Amino acid sequence: MNTILALVGSLRQDSINKRLAKALEVLGADRFRFVYADLGALPHYNDDCWANPPAAVTAFKAQIRQADGILLITPEYFRAPAGLLLNALAWGGRPYGDSAWVGKPVATVGTSPGAIGTAAAQSHLRAILPTLDMHLMGQPEVYFQTKPGLIDAQFQVTDEQTRAFLDNWVNRFDQFVSLMTARDEKAIAA
Ligand SMILES: Cc1cc2nc3c(=O)[nH]c(=O)nc-3n(C[C@H](O)[C@H](O)[C@H](O)COP(=O)(O)O)c2cc1C
Repeated sequence: MNTILALVGSLRQDSINKRLAKALEVLGADRFRFVYADLGALPHYNDDCWANPPAAVTAFKAQIRQADGILLITPEYFRAPAGLLLNALAWGGRPYGDSAWVGKPVATVGTSPGAIGTAAAQSHLRAILPTLDMHLMGQPEVYFQTKPGLIDAQFQVTDEQTRAFLDNWVNRFDQFVSLMTARDEKAIAA
């Protein structure tokens, strides 16, 4: 069973992005295990910290290394991804030569009440990830417009068509993570 490190780009208690992450976790419960990174514990990125890195940063980098796959769940702020996620990407990717992101399979999803459902934010994010030498899942994309009641308090997707769409995404992501992991293991063994 793949372990997925989920990075939710919102600290808000009633975050709709947290809710989307939980819905994906519930849908994929028989296929993967989610671990949630505590992005609120990370300080603002500061390159001076590497001589004595904060414990939260060391723990975060260890979580990345232990994960089979990474999932970024982003809100959209002014058509851009959440700063919380960009901060986390910086901590995971430094110091130079010791990035924890290299070779990790990664996907992005996100939700907003707006009609384009974080498409603009994810477009920025998806341009960044290959520069970190991560393996980005191109398809399927999830630009999810939140509507009241679509994901209930138990994180069940109430609309059948939407549930089937997300379930397909869950399958594809799980397959992608397995494929990329097997490919890298084969390359190391060769
Ligand atoms: C500073 C700020 C900028 C926002 N900009 C956008 C935007 O560009 N597009 C959009 O669809 N929603 C935008 N929103 C609305 C967010 O999608 C909405 O607040 C959402 O609930 C945030 O995600 P969360 O519930 O996971 O915290 C913005 C919200 C804030 C606070």
